[in-house]
Amino acid sequence: MCEPAYFDVVYAINPWMDTAVRPDPRAALAEWKYLHDVFVDLGHQVELIEPRPGLLDMVFAANAAVVRDGAVLVANFRVGQRRAEAAAYHDWFAARGWTKLSQAKCVNEGQGDFLSVGGRVVAGSGFRSEPAGGDEVADYFGCPVVKVSLTDPRFYHLDTAFAVLDETTVMYYPGAFTPQSRELLREQFPDAIIATEPDAVDFGLNAVSDGRHVVLSARAGRLRAVLREAGYEPIGVDVTELLKGGGGVRCCTLDLGDPVAG
Ligand code: ARG
Repeated sequence: MCEPAYFDVVYAINPWMDTAVRPDPRAALAEWKYLHDVFVDLGHQVELIEPRPGLLDMVFAANAAVVRDGAVLVANFRVGQRRAEAAAYHDWFAARGWTKLSQAKCVNEGQGDFLSVGGRVVAGSGFRSEPAGGDEVADYFGCPVVKVSLTDPRFYHLDTAFAVLDETTVMYYPGAFTPQSRELLREQFPDAIIATEPDAVDFGLNAVSDGRHVVLSARAGRLRAVLREAGYEPIGVDVTELLKGGGGVRCCTLDLGDPVAG
């Protein structure tokens, strides 16, 4: 995670950002700190990266890399405003001895668009990461990749419309995907929890799950009830300020996987 020390909205690179609606720095920090403490209380080990001045979106750590089984493919951002984050994260991994470490050649916005579900990776494209980024991920990690296309600009990263609950279960909002991708998702994940448009707008799909506890936006009340019904323990957190940047719980979290693998 990366503390939102420099988080601000002075440019708009997704439909949630409006330069006339700037985040309150103290409230943003409090939200982030609360999320951090929720993870710690759940027993996660949380590593921090030093925020860098001028990198206003660096708080959205999910975008920094794809990490699987101790291997790291550092992001190659589409948007110029975020491009320098890649070096900061590359340095972080290198300094900590992660040796299978490269930067993506294709446009790749990390775990924002590439999510591991058990043995495979679901790769989203359409707004940020490029479709060929999925092939690069398949080669680099040597795993099957399911490529899907996003169509609704509000759901510009895969993790705004699709979340992994455990090794086999996912939840997603079908309306964020092309008809072909919807079909593919139906085939691949017949038991998925299907979210509604309001669930997605509430950033309920921007969630972090440990297989039992699902941390998500507090606003997503309906989805929280659905998750509870399905046997999960939803934990709602306030992401009002972070949402001004177009991010929520999952965006603030880069999943490093099992510590022994790293
Ligand atoms: N303002 C950031 C951007 O547009 C938000 C990133 C949200 N991250 C995510 N994983 N969806 O790049």
